[in-house]
Amino acid sequence: MINFSLTEEQLAVKEAARELAQKSLKPGVIERDSTMTYPKDQIREMSELGFMGMMVDPAYGGGGMDTLSYVLAMEEISKIDNSCSVAMSVNNSLVCWGIEKYGSEAQKQKYLPRLASGEWIGAFCLSEPEAGSDATSQRTVAIDQGDHYLISGTKNWITNGGTSKLHIVIAQTDVDKGHRGINAFLVETDWEGVSIGAKEDKLGIRSSDTHTIMYSDVKVPKENRIGEDGFGFKFAMTVLNGGRIGIAAQALGIAAGAYELALAYAQEREAFGKPIAKHQAIAFKLADMATEVEAARQLVYRAAKLKDQGKDFLSAASMAKVFASEVAMKVTTEAVQVHGGYGYVKEYHVERLMRDAKITQIYEGTSEIQRLVISRNIGKGELYPEFA
Ligand code: CAA
Repeated sequence: MINFSLTEEQLAVKEAARELAQKSLKPGVIERDSTMTYPKDQIREMSELGFMGMMVDPAYGGGGMDTLSYVLAMEEISKIDNSCSVAMSVNNSLVCWGIEKYGSEAQKQKYLPRLASGEWIGAFCLSEPEAGSDATSQRTVAIDQGDHYLISGTKNWITNGGTSKLHIVIAQTDVDKGHRGINAFLVETDWEGVSIGAKEDKLGIRSSDTHTIMYSDVKVPKENRIGEDGFGFKFAMTVLNGGRIGIAAQALGIAAGAYELALAYAQEREAFGKPIAKHQAIAFKLADMATEVEAARQLVYRAAKLKDQGKDFLSAASMAKVFASEVAMKVTTEAVQVHGGYGYVKEYHVERLMRDAKITQIYEGTSEIQRLVISRNIGKGELYPEFA
């Protein structure tokens, strides 16, 4: 059975993230969203407090914390600023975790201290104009030149695309081998041939740094390939399994944040002679919202715990992501409704959370892909690893 009682250390992490979010991320969040301004100072403060490399081994400059602590921090930060939390999620769970789990000792020593301290921010470059959910259809190529590869191609919707100093680039090295002809490479962004397209103008997470990236004959030393030849697709999939816990935590934070705002508003706002929270129409909405947030929390914490215990968490991560992201959409929409006209204007924060919620159903695997992953594991005895 999974025990969700939090340790003193986990509670302290949650409190520190809550304080950071309230004191440093909340001021200016509406303005940054409107103007698509990257939260540079906020990310710097998050880096100084250790939030960009929470799970990295202290030997490589990280916080050495467990996944549940990371999820607790993601939840609190995502209640306020999801442009900050997506940068944190990609850096922690796709880039740092990927390098720490599968990188060579030299790669870890060279890159992890910079990434874990936030001196460098990383990006994970898998999606392409014609390869989103169908991730094996990579068009980006890496041509083997003996001691180096030459990478050419285009990657789309890359989080941290404009600010990152290191990309994990997934590319095809041998098209005849299908997914076994795909590799992952560590590419420094100041290398010749890397160019950054314009920042995307998005529905939500508007200040996050999402760009198209072009690679033109970028010379990448062979020692910057991650793992054995042909390991890149497995690498990307395994890393995404962990990443999905981060995005599930983001969705949970969005839902919990919207619920907290709706509850506070409903207890204060009066109509027909009493607070609207005392009218059954609103009270029942709040009851449903509270129930859904709690159910999402259980799934997200469970996936994190399974990962920390070294158990299979593939289905658990997908279940957490698909459920929490759908709860985020529902709860934020209801939070706008509870606020009435005030909910539709920026000042009250809930409309931003509603816009931010949508992307959690799309990135790091759409809801449809999560259902595919879960359905493929049904009957394999992997759905409840805690009872195995
Ligand atoms: N974990 C580990 N291995 C996996 C895996 C997983 N989740 N999914 C597939 N694999 C392995 C399979 O075991 C298989 O390996 P073997 O041949 O050795 O057995 C290999 O990968 C190929 O698998 P499939 O035959 O199942 O491949 P498929 O093409 O039918 O389906 C897919 C794969 C599940 C649809 C996969 O392509 C997928 O997950 N797509 C979604 C991609 C995605 O999540 N993109 C997000 C972009 S990144 C992002 O958003 C970052 C950001 O900036 C926020």
